[in-house]
Amino acid sequence: MSKLNESKCPFNYGNLESYENELFKEVKIDKRGDHDFDPKAPESFTSAHDLYKEMRSKCPVAHSNEWGGFWALSKYEDVVGVLKDYETYTTSVQNVVPKVAFTGRRPPLHFDPPEHTVYRRLINQFFTKKKMLKLEPIIQRDTEELVKALMEKDEVEIAADYSHQLPSLVFAQFFNLPKSLSKKIKEVSTAYVKAIMEFDNQEKVKGLSLQLYDIARTVIDSRKENPMDPEEDFTSALLNTKQEGEYLTDDMVLGCVRAMLVAGMIAPSVLIASIFVHLAKHKDIQEQLRNDLSLIPAATEEYLRLLTPYRGMARTAKQDVVIGGQLIKKDEPIALNYASANRDDEVFPDGDTFILNRPNINKHIVFGEGPHKCPASPLARMMVRFAIEEALKRTKDIDLIGEIKMTVWAEWGVLEAPMKLTPVK
Ligand code: HEM
Repeated sequence: MSKLNESKCPFNYGNLESYENELFKEVKIDKRGDHDFDPKAPESFTSAHDLYKEMRSKCPVAHSNEWGGFWALSKYEDVVGVLKDYETYTTSVQNVVPKVAFTGRRPPLHFDPPEHTVYRRLINQFFTKKKMLKLEPIIQRDTEELVKALMEKDEVEIAADYSHQLPSLVFAQFFNLPKSLSKKIKEVSTAYVKAIMEFDNQEKVKGLSLQLYDIARTVIDSRKENPMDPEEDFTSALLNTKQEGEYLTDDMVLGCVRAMLVAGMIAPSVLIASIFVHLAKHKDIQEQLRNDLSLIPAATEEYLRLLTPYRGMARTAKQDVVIGGQLIKKDEPIALNYASANRDDEVFPDGDTFILNRPNINKHIVFGEGPHKCPASPLARMMVRFAIEEALKRTKDIDLIGEIKMTVWAEWGVLEAPMKLTPVK
């Protein structure tokens, strides 16, 4: 991958015409206007990954005409290259394809460093080892209770009954919220993501986004009235944070709370539902993990790679760039297909297969890379680990008993799956 920058012309050409000639000499292909893939096509559990395998070998820098046209990178090295180069590729225009943020920029994701730094410094303090150790027993207990309730049912819908319940309980603890409010956030954010998945229903998306702002405002107002210890409460800490001697503006505090409330609600739900479908389809893995629960942290890591839930996170080039021989013009959106990158055989041999303890498993990019890398990865890992462990401990079989429904772009994974969990006697 190479990048071109007029002020630092790599060919030392002074005039623009000869510079452009040289630029196009380097460009080997021009897919502008091509419709290499349809991000709206209906999918099965394996179909998208079959397509991405083909895209990695035939058109790793693909173009789609959907949503006004966008580029999609499917190779690991290309995706990581963009993520690390935050000076060339910004998140401030749109951080997802299709663009859905109509209601202003929200820190931290919509800001590049250095504006981004003040928020990240604060957010990171809430995901330290000490904080996680404090949350661990509470999250394990909540997960155990959820699983016990599942055992009472003949059939479950794994997403609605389990994987969507868990983040809501975790959030109540993490944000010091009443469980009822956390449940409400989960309901509204799920409806918000479903509305986004219906595509073209922009009024509904906007309405639900505004509801999420209202909820964030309620949380902030309650902390203003009854401040909590900023060491213990994220919203209180944000209200106490200063940038260059000034408190953060109300808009930025609101945007950041709104971003945090929603960022972590969807990915874990989709990922955990996908894991349960994979376990149901691979009884040998179920057995192996059930017989040796100490393998679950390694299984969690491999599942994070294999069943990566994001494919449409995006950046916008601030100048003309060339990726894989293709010219991408300034201001054109580029989707970073993390789900595909994490199965790139050049980095993860036999990438479509679940393999415990891959030697380079820590190279996976389920949490992104660079300045926006997910700050909540320790919490996300904990949620996923307990979700698997508590269910395997109490079941002797996990079975799929009907058709599954998949999410659509920009997430990848299971949206609904009817299952039977057979309890141990
Ligand atoms: C399995 C669960 C999760 C996955 C796979 C995941 C994945 C990601 C990814 C890929 C990014 C980077 C986006 C980009 O570069 O454009 C990200 C950023 C972020 N995530 Fe997560 N995430 C998860 C859970 C959570 C949770 C539980 C929270 C909050 C409690 C959270 C909060 C955030 C925030 C605030 C950012 C933006 C960081 C920044 O811009 O600096 N995530 N996440």
